[in-house]
Amino acid sequence: RQTTFTVAIDGPAAAGKGTISKRIAERFDLAHLDTGLLYRAVGALSLAGQDPIEAARTLVPSALDREDLRTPQVAKEASQVAAMPEVRGHLLAFQRDFARQEGGAVLDGRDIGTVICPDANVKLFVTANAEVRAKRRHAELTGKGLKIDYERVLSDVIARDQLDEGRQDAPMFKAEDAILIDTSEMDIETAVAKAVEIVAAHLD
Ligand code: CDP
Ligand code: CDP
Repeated sequence: RQTTFTVAIDGPAAAGKGTISKRIAERFDLAHLDTGLLYRAVGALSLAGQDPIEAARTLVPSALDREDLRTPQVAKEASQVAAMPEVRGHLLAFQRDFARQEGGAVLDGRDIGTVICPDANVKLFVTANAEVRAKRRHAELTGKGLKIDYERVLSDVIARDQLDEGRQDAPMFKAEDAILIDTSEMDIETAVAKAVEIVAAHLD
């Protein structure tokens, strides 16, 4: 196998990117980076009063282990700071280095196949309709004990999609050479199996 092998997985919130990426990484023994965590970490520091550009410039890996990164407030702030070109610029080298590591890597986010790794060996765009995604995210959050309305999760998801698709710098969209996986009517095991099959076909 090639020493570097990059799998790029993009798509909107709660489409299944993270779960699929984790399983691909395990199955093919690749390192995995959830790039959303970088923006969530900057978002959390911004909510705590730091300048987001400075937070991105000085971000340390331990900031990705914070326990409060999965909240809806942090997701919203992440999306705001992710629209700032200077924030994205400071996070670029770390992601590219991670992608090029010996042994290969899978990265999931919004702009992996388009900006971070335009030459990735495999590109997937994982999506689902907003109602299905909001239902999944709502179940996840309430499962963690958070009290939040489905309607609120849905409107947050839609607002974040619009911000991520509409920004000037590195907007979310499917790269021309990315393979679309629509999980609207697919359970997670079927989605993982499909992704595994695609990646396997690209490995020699
Ligand atoms: O887990 P979920 O899909 O809800 O979100 P996430 O992947 O953790 O990403 C949080 C936010 O970070 C997104 O809404 C984007 O605004 C931003 N993001 C980005 O701009 N580029 C990436 N490669 C990954 C995340
Ligand atoms: O990373 P991303 O935000 O795209 O999604 P995720 O964290 O992988 O998935 C969000 C939730 O939806 C998880 O609880 C998944 O198990 C669930 N999911 C599902 O039930 N069916 C799918 N086809 C995809 C995800």
